[in-house]
Amino acid sequence: MKVVVIGGTGLIGSKLVAKLNEHGHEAVPAAPNTGVNTLTGEGLAEVLSGASVVVDVSNSPSFEDDAVLEFFRTSTTNLLKAEANAGVGHHVALSVVGTERLQQSGYFRAKQAQEELIRSSGIPYSIVHATQFFEFMKSIAAAATDGDTVRLAPVKIRPVHSDDVAATVGRTAVGTPVNGVVEVAGPDTFQLDELIGKGLAARNDPRHVVTDVHAPYFGAELREDTLLPGPDANIAETRFADWLAQQ
Ligand SMILES: NC(=O)c1ccc[n+]([C@@H]2O[C@H](COP(=O)([O-])OP(=O)(O)OC[C@H]3O[C@@H](n4cnc5c(N)ncnc54)[C@H](OP(=O)(O)O)[C@@H]3O)[C@@H](O)[C@H]2O)c1
Repeated sequence: MKVVVIGGTGLIGSKLVAKLNEHGHEAVPAAPNTGVNTLTGEGLAEVLSGASVVVDVSNSPSFEDDAVLEFFRTSTTNLLKAEANAGVGHHVALSVVGTERLQQSGYFRAKQAQEELIRSSGIPYSIVHATQFFEFMKSIAAAATDGDTVRLAPVKIRPVHSDDVAATVGRTAVGTPVNGVVEVAGPDTFQLDELIGKGLAARNDPRHVVTDVHAPYFGAELREDTLLPGPDANIAETRFADWLAQQ
């Protein structure tokens, strides 16, 4: 089956393309440097010809509020239109656990806009909601940094390995559209401020964590369980400590 992976050169996309090809599918990576641009529409009709499934694991180059909203609105609109013209039977997108609870954040308003366009498109779809990738912990620290201080809320987080996310997205892509959300999370629950603090200390990073219940997470205030998945989530195998030991 031909599966076009939009953002197929990125962190999740490149792993997904490899996994689908290993399982005998024809996975085609699509990104600006393969000649496909969902913002301009360049190369879209050509790459979608004969595709059964499209997986969107692209991301905005800018997380600035207006830029990220413009990215997901324009790219998703162009993509869904091209899929309808090409007769694609399943649209799969990767989004984030708790997106609907994080609407104070410009990034998550953009992800919500992406999801709403998909839900109203009429194309059978599956939305995979993943928790934070292990690889994303440094970006969380960077976004919360002010000088030597990293201000974080004492909330629960259940990070997941990008390999496990790519596997879940791959299984979803070759399955029947769920016309809803599939969640995936890692096996262990941590407290965000403690986890980031330990990571900084382990790397002899001079920054220190300040615990603050009101500290924003990419612009959104968090409750203790905002970042956690529901009871039906797929729980991935790779443990954070095992992954860390291999880095
Ligand atoms: N980070 C997390 O913890 C987390 C958690 C849950 C869900 N997610 C979601 O996972 C998704 C993928 O994240 P990632 O970290 O794998 O992304 P990434 O590594 O930043 O890769 C983004 C991909 O999008 C492509 N892209 C950018 N602009 C494009 C355009 N105009 N047309 C086509 N492709 C374009 C990039 O191509 P170039 O490299 O050529 O620019 C790249 O292949 C995101 O949607 C994010 O919301 C992330």
